[in-house]
Amino acid sequence: MSSIARTAATGGDLDPEFLRWQTSLPVDRRLLAEDLRGSQAHVRALVEAGLLTADEGDRLEAALVALPGKVARGELQLPLEEDVHMAVEALLRQEVGPLADKLHTGRSRNDQVATDLALWTRQAARDLEEELSQMVQEVEDWKGRFGAVAVPAYTHRQVAIPVQAWLWIDAALCQGLRRDRALLSAVRSELAACPLGAGAIGGTTLPIDPRVAAEALGFTRGPENPVDVVGQRDAALTLAFVCARISLHLARFSTDVIEMVSDGMARLGGAIACGSSMMPHKRNPDLFELVRGQAALRHGELTALLATFHGLGTGYHRDLQQDKEILFRAVDGTRGSLRMVTLALEHLELDEAACRRALEEGDAVATDLTECLVAAGTPFRDAYRKVGALVASCREQGRRLVHLTPDELAAAGFPPEAHERLDVAAVAARRSARFTPPPP
Ligand code: ARG
Repeated sequence: MSSIARTAATGGDLDPEFLRWQTSLPVDRRLLAEDLRGSQAHVRALVEAGLLTADEGDRLEAALVALPGKVARGELQLPLEEDVHMAVEALLRQEVGPLADKLHTGRSRNDQVATDLALWTRQAARDLEEELSQMVQEVEDWKGRFGAVAVPAYTHRQVAIPVQAWLWIDAALCQGLRRDRALLSAVRSELAACPLGAGAIGGTTLPIDPRVAAEALGFTRGPENPVDVVGQRDAALTLAFVCARISLHLARFSTDVIEMVSDGMARLGGAIACGSSMMPHKRNPDLFELVRGQAALRHGELTALLATFHGLGTGYHRDLQQDKEILFRAVDGTRGSLRMVTLALEHLELDEAACRRALEEGDAVATDLTECLVAAGTPFRDAYRKVGALVASCREQGRRLVHLTPDELAAAGFPPEAHERLDVAAVAARRSARFTPPPP
């Protein structure tokens, strides 16, 4: 065991069982690349400050660059330390000797971990933006195949009004996800400041210019307030919220699909349908049920992060170490669900005839008939009651509004054009034409 973060004041050796319990290495080894990038930027700042010679800087940088390859090839192993930051410093000591002792000059694991996490979070937001764009593209293709089909829009899970399917899928997926995408760029703009330079909590007295590392790492500035920087994880929290909200949107879409499949209006291709181990006739929407189930986990992770931060005072606390495990799971899970729904869209078909039957059976044209009367001069409430009475009398006879003949409509006081309002596809097209989807 190395003694990087131990001195005479720390009080002897750490209990090995405690070390194994508290280490974040199994989780934060995933930040190795970010940690090394951060260290390279820090080395550059130390050279500019005159705290390392150019030659020392070059040697440290070369060792940092070579490290991931050596770890990947198994030539070097990250030693059991409290975290990836200490493991890297210990490895570096093996590689370059006492020169490694200069790397941590003016730096703490507190600003280091905040930097690593900021770099990771920034990239995760970009990756999610990319997944969202791919999904929106897949939705565009789907609209090209099925967008014009008339489907029921529902309120209270009751057939409400005919709309074209593009309006449904735009509502079920694109509108919400577009808003989520905007939040992802908000996450990235929250990450404008590079934490390096905050040190443990009060910065450093050494002449290190924080702008050097900030610029090297693609941030726009150094820390504004070191006390804030080491103890806040707002961007991670916002990202977990966006993951929860994306997942909520995917879950809502999934429920729609599950119900449409169950009602016979949608069909799943075999590539994304699961069978039953006993019942030979099954073609189950497990993919969508799992995506819906995943949303519950994302909400749990958001709650876990909020609860972790709740009650912490200003500054760094070791509780913050938990953030990474939670955030990694949230982002991985969200990316997985996005990919699966994108894949599923290729294999999701609408059954136009079944959609028509649902619309006709559900008297979805009732509101259109009402508005037809209103357009011909009947006060709305009178027209509303009249159509309600017509629905009731049709149903008593086991019929639906769409079965009314032109003569029956005329006898009930409807204008001649009322008969066109019984065509669910025409009604859906007419209603949907009043709305234009925003560009993808
Ligand atoms: N493993 C720690 C974390 O993830 C790194 C920072 C440790 N800092 C400290 N002062 N103990 O938060």
